[in-house]
Amino acid sequence: MEQQKRYGHFDDQHREYVITDPQTPWPWINYLGNEDFFSLISNTAGGYSFYKDAKFRRITRYRYNNVPMDNGGRYFYIKDGDTVWNPGWKPCKTPLDFYECRHGMGYTRITGRKSQVEASVLFFVPLGKWAEVQKLTLKNTSQQTKQLKLFSFEEWCLWNAATDMENFQRNFSTGEVEIEGSTIYHKTEYRERRNHYAFYHVNTEIQGFDTDRETFVGLYNEFADPQAVIEGRPHNSHAHGWSPIASHYIEVTLQPGEQRDFIFLLGYIENEHDKKFSAPQVINKEKAHQLIAELDTTEKVDKAFAELCQYWDALLNIYKVKTGNPKLDRMVNIWNQYQCMVTFNFSRSASFFESGVGRGMGFRDSNQDLVGFVHQIPPRARQRIIDIASTQFPDGGCYHQYQPLTKRGNNDIGGGFNDDPCWLIFGTVAYIKETGDFSILDEMVPFDNQPGTEVTLFEHLRVSMDHVINNLGPHALPLIGRADWNDCLNLNCFSMDPNESFQTTENVTEGSKAESLMIAGLFVVTGKDYIALCKALAERIENGEFSTLNSQFLAAEAARMQQAVDAMIVAVEKHGWDGEWYLRAYDYYGRKIGSHECDEAKIFIESQGWCTMAEIGAEQGMVAKSLDACKKYLECEHGMVLNNPAFSRFIYEYGEISSYPEGYKENAGIFCHNNPWVIIGECIAGRGNDAWSHYAKILPSYVEEKYQTLHKVEPYVNCQMVAGKDAFRPGEGKNSWLTGTAAWMWYTVSEFILGIKPDYDGIRIDPCLPETAGDYTVSRRFREAEYEIAIHPNGAQKGVKQIVLDGKPIEGTVIPYSKGRHTVEVTM
Ligand code: BGC
Ligand code: NOJ
Repeated sequence: MEQQKRYGHFDDQHREYVITDPQTPWPWINYLGNEDFFSLISNTAGGYSFYKDAKFRRITRYRYNNVPMDNGGRYFYIKDGDTVWNPGWKPCKTPLDFYECRHGMGYTRITGRKSQVEASVLFFVPLGKWAEVQKLTLKNTSQQTKQLKLFSFEEWCLWNAATDMENFQRNFSTGEVEIEGSTIYHKTEYRERRNHYAFYHVNTEIQGFDTDRETFVGLYNEFADPQAVIEGRPHNSHAHGWSPIASHYIEVTLQPGEQRDFIFLLGYIENEHDKKFSAPQVINKEKAHQLIAELDTTEKVDKAFAELCQYWDALLNIYKVKTGNPKLDRMVNIWNQYQCMVTFNFSRSASFFESGVGRGMGFRDSNQDLVGFVHQIPPRARQRIIDIASTQFPDGGCYHQYQPLTKRGNNDIGGGFNDDPCWLIFGTVAYIKETGDFSILDEMVPFDNQPGTEVTLFEHLRVSMDHVINNLGPHALPLIGRADWNDCLNLNCFSMDPNESFQTTENVTEGSKAESLMIAGLFVVTGKDYIALCKALAERIENGEFSTLNSQFLAAEAARMQQAVDAMIVAVEKHGWDGEWYLRAYDYYGRKIGSHECDEAKIFIESQGWCTMAEIGAEQGMVAKSLDACKKYLECEHGMVLNNPAFSRFIYEYGEISSYPEGYKENAGIFCHNNPWVIIGECIAGRGNDAWSHYAKILPSYVEEKYQTLHKVEPYVNCQMVAGKDAFRPGEGKNSWLTGTAAWMWYTVSEFILGIKPDYDGIRIDPCLPETAGDYTVSRRFREAEYEIAIHPNGAQKGVKQIVLDGKPIEGTVIPYSKGRHTVEVTM
């Protein structure tokens, strides 16, 4: 394939992706904010902000699937004579003399130049602050004095992003604002039950403002030609109902060569109930004044920005690889870890494909996200595990999703996804291996957030495993429930009503024989993890460490689980093998799914991934055959498809999976999330060449080099799905950013390819590489130690021959943990 048009490039030194053409094949976005206040921002400054929850605390409005795409955001209009332009090109789309957007770690800098005026805006959310800073620098590069008119623009959302889009009979009458100096306050519904408001401030005197959208934009105009900007004057409008906005008007005179900063601040404030007002119906602005005072000069803002950069320096110093291959190093050291932070923060809630109103935090999603994040900020991972476990039911089942603001299980979706419980073990084990903090198992955690129901977290793990054991089908394989990891394999759903969701409609489990080989493999993997955890904890108790659990009980648990795992392995070997690969499932009636006997979808990826990771039937050659089958039937130029051949018609008994046209999403799309499962299977089997070739196909930096136009979505992060070989346009990406792919790519490369695996007693070294791999080093901070690890593969794909720790050879492949700095030499 010939080289495609490029829209940008990586700048590894600054950890930025530099977009040089605003007309990217799709909006290429970034995320601002770390903990409470968040923004999504596209390369033309489109997007929106929210506090904690994109549904219940949406601060600015955004219209998804708009025409043109990605309209609405934080816009600066610069009127220079009769020309009006924006630094990010949109919405006016006035041709610029120069355009550049740099997406970095928690910030975006957009620069435009027109007729010798340069406007550069740095967007970021300072650490610990509930605000988005927009530092606009205007510079006159001409020899003449420039008289500019500057208009800012933000559009308020009426807080609940769902009702904001539907309840107009009410909404058009509720909007309220206050204006004080250079600050525009948005206080809709503050008079009643809300105790929060937002504001938009600029650190200079303004010459006017607008807060009513129709006055500013004009009913028959667009964001591209707002009435006030065209006229070159604000109307000082005061919104009463309709659609409140915030626009400052500033007259700027710049001498030749002069440059001036303007600090705009979009902030969010909460007040205690009895301190809401300073006078009848006048909002208490004390906290807003304070927040503004913290960020009202270039110096203060530059300091806050430097702090943000240091924060990212520290995070990205925890795991650093040097292989000499920039395409690998930049993904491992920068972008993959960055995406993991984003998926940890948002689960699957808010992206340019997830509207923020539909799904909150997913039970399985957030557990998986943990493996990509746990090394970054362990205390936040710890809290997340407790939050997730708190939405579980006493029988081990759980809510499929919960709302980030309330942390309560989401009744709209409910539960019944039978893979969910196992993921709690997956996430918790990753946390303990990273931190050595077994005390988390003693934490008292409620069921379904009900006070009085608290049991230890360990008990939550125990009932999670039991949920599988107590829900086995006729072949002693796990019953699938509503669905397993594949939300769209709805084997008990039987829906013919287009008005109902496949995932929430009746789940006919009574009499169902629908079993899942994906859960079977997942159970074996997490079951082994559970057993190892019981043993590791028992050992610590015997050595005198405190725990509310006791070692006899743990020994009994380990033995009990070993039996269940062994039985599951037997069941898979007996009823889950199709001859060349693992079956995918049995349907409601007990008929095979994912078998050579089927007309379509003869083979699925999920069970190949999980059963090879579980090494089921390895001695009988099942693992190798399954991995070969993935290469033969699933692999294509852009990765491995989910199933093959694609379903060409809707199958009532299978549900949503067959609702997708061929090659998209769960119907034979390349679901990037599950490619790593097979890659890890390859690594465990020691097939480094195959592992690497699968990995590189979905590694963004490799795709970036070849396919910016075809791939469409952001080239610096993974997307959920790339159209598969049966699709109309194979290779086209969708659903960027919020996907389990981030965590799984990280887990795969950091632990299985590069081979640095945190374990209870230290770091296990077990790389699996292509035979072409050269020497490389990994510096890894681990608990209170720093390891500088040099690996010499010597052409081997797998197998550590010798490890030398601080100059002395050690036995085995685990570097025993001890505080301080260590050097490690590994020969393969
Ligand atoms: C999608 C799945 C997704 C699910 C979430 C389905 O329509 O295809 O990928 O997990 O919705 O509810
Ligand atoms: C996306 C969902 O977020 C995830 O939970 C699910 O496992 C996959 N789609 C596959 O259906």
